[in-house]
Parts: sequence; C-alpha cells; structure tokens
Amino acid sequence: MSRALATTSTLSQQALPAGLDPARLPAHVAVIMDGNGRWASRRGLPRVMGHREGVEALKRTLRLCSDWGIGALTAYAFSTENWNRPGEEVSFLMALFERVLARELEALEREQVRIRFLGDLEPLPSGLRALIANATTRTAGNSGIHFNVCTNYGGRAELVHAARRLAEQAARGELDPASIDETQFAAQLHTAGERDPDLLIRTSGELRISNFLLWQLAYAELHITDVLWPDFDERALVSALLDYQNRQRRFGGVEPSLPPSAHQP
Ligand code: FPP
Repeated sequence: MSRALATTSTLSQQALPAGLDPARLPAHVAVIMDGNGRWASRRGLPRVMGHREGVEALKRTLRLCSDWGIGALTAYAFSTENWNRPGEEVSFLMALFERVLARELEALEREQVRIRFLGDLEPLPSGLRALIANATTRTAGNSGIHFNVCTNYGGRAELVHAARRLAEQAARGELDPASIDETQFAAQLHTAGERDPDLLIRTSGELRISNFLLWQLAYAELHITDVLWPDFDERALVSALLDYQNRQRRFGGVEPSLPPSAHQP
C-alpha cells in the first residue's frame, strides 16, 4: 500500500467530484472484491497476479473513501470458503496479507486509519496473526476512517458464534433468554460497535451476497458492477455513490427514513 496510502500525505486530498452530494454520502461502504482471477486470466497471467493488483484497487478505494469523509470501509478479503481454493493460491493470499500489512502499517498510522480484521483469526498463520494484533493495537486510537478487513469471515459462522456466546451467558445465568433483542445480538457480532453498511458494492457482475455480512446488510443498498475488482477506480466508485444517492431509503416504511436504530452503535 506504500505507493497509494503513503502518497496521501504528500498529495493533496482528492476533492469530492461534482455531482455527488456531500450530505448524502454513505457512512459505511462494504465491498465484495470479486473478479481478480478473471482479470489476470484475461491477460494471460496467473490468477494470483489479479490478487496483487486487487490490493492496489483496495488502496485506491480506501484513500478515496477517507478523503471524501466516508466513515467506514469493510472489505471481504478472505471467506471461510476460500480455504477450498488451490493450496498455492491460499498460501499466496496469506503471504500477500502479511506483506501488505507489514509494508503499510506506518502509512495507516500516519493517515489515521483504524484497521481491524473481522472473522475467525485463529486458523491464520501465526506470523499474520501477530501482524494483525500489532496493527489493530497501534491504530485502535486513530480518528480517521474505520477499515475493516474481513478475513476467514463467513456470515453464517458469525451468526452461529453470536448465538453460542449468548447461549453460554444464559447457561451461566447471566442473561435471561427472553431479554435478548437485536441490539444485544448485534453486540456479539465481529462488527460490534460499527454501524451497519449503507451501501454494498460487488464487482464482476455476480448477483450474490456470498455469505457476507448477512445480518448487517439487512437494509444496505446494493450496487453491482461488471467492472472487475482490479479495475475498480475513482470513476467506478463515483458511479456506485451516484447510484446510492439516487435511491430512496425507506427501511420497510413508506416514506424516506433513517435506519432502524437497533443495529447502530
Ligand atoms: C476475489 O476474486 C478476491 C479475493 C478472494 C481476494 C481479495 C484480496 C485482496 C484484494 C487483498 C486484500 C489484502 C489486505 C491485507 C487488505 P476471485 O479470485 O474470486 O476472482 P474470480 O471470481 O475472477 O476468480
């Protein structure tokens, strides 16, 4: 990320493009970064080159969201199902996460980014876990954008984990099952403390949620683009934001309204 994030301190901030209403930007954007493999295959390159280029697209997106005052960016980097990929690709991805984190931590700190890794981190290589722990601690007090990297993340696993935690509390007599409500449930999710995403962007044209943020996306606006993730750039982000600003959010009512407060911190 050195090229992209580090340069933000030397380049002026990117102004919000004309046509976007600064008062109606999503506070939290989530992205399913799909199409890395196809991007590489179309160029006759090994699939992993698509992931390498995907990191550049993620850095661009993070910088733009940060510059434009979007409060949180949550990216789906590695799903619980991604372990089923060829061993070499999984190893490449783990090594890539390590390299990116080690290389970018200084820039993240300087840019006031608060990074967190959401998911079951136990099965990750120990070197990566150590880097994650260090980056999380060192950026925890930062005042800028919340950057959540979903790693070994699965929406169903997250819901089961939350249910188990509440059941354990009830079994210990610390919680009355009848008192469990949406706020208490949301507090057991990996995303606890983060507001729900307002906008989900999925690249490469697939019309699926793919086990991503199943609870948190309940009222998100969906933007699906044919752009492959490594090609996702300012123009593609602006197009997603314009699409978002053209929606009427009603949250189950009949009039435009604010999100239900139960899921918000
Ligand atoms: C999906 O494309 C992409 C991934 C599984 C990996 C995305 C990971 C990154 C961009 C790195 C992020 C790193 C850090 C440390 C923040 P695909 O392989 O499913 O593409 P395909 O559908 O064309 O095969």
